[in-house]
Amino acid sequence: MLPARSMAAVNEAVAELLSPLTVSRRAHSLAVGRRVEKVASYLPTELRADAVTAAYLHDVGYGYPDLGFHPIDGARLLRSRGYSPVVCHMVAFHTAAQVEAAVRGLDVQIFDEFRSSEMDGIDAADDFLWWADLSTGPKGEEFTLDERLTEILRRYEPGSTVHTAITRAEPQLRQAFQRVSGSM
Ligand SMILES: [Fe+2]
Repeated sequence: MLPARSMAAVNEAVAELLSPLTVSRRAHSLAVGRRVEKVASYLPTELRADAVTAAYLHDVGYGYPDLGFHPIDGARLLRSRGYSPVVCHMVAFHTAAQVEAAVRGLDVQIFDEFRSSEMDGIDAADDFLWWADLSTGPKGEEFTLDERLTEILRRYEPGSTVHTAITRAEPQLRQAFQRVSGSM
């Protein structure tokens, strides 16, 4: 659990940052945040608060389009607001963002400033965010992995960027999901 005071501060900042998102994206974001909050004790102590913050804010980039690619737009926004390298890294790389960037033909270097090989435990923190995103529906519903993948593939047309990216990323999405399910 996070200290009460820091949690209240997180909530206020989260609400402000998420305010430009659609109602359903906000509901999804809050549900993903709560899901990571519930399991944060499985993560190294020093990463817990950042992992929870990243989960609440993983889709914030939808509300602040710049490049037009929400993981990087979100990470850049959060860095400009003083969020930690862990939070910015987790948002930039969430849920196979690199695969979608490749499908969009974006330069792989957009991720460089958010790489984090020297952060201990960061891979596990990444997995937890991917797992929470993949077990939460577009309006915050609790979904199985298969329900979530089916829902995304139905929402985005075959041939669209997201449909192609999710299809291509499916093995790594499943692996991340299994690593978390197996660790709890
Ligand atoms: Fe996202």
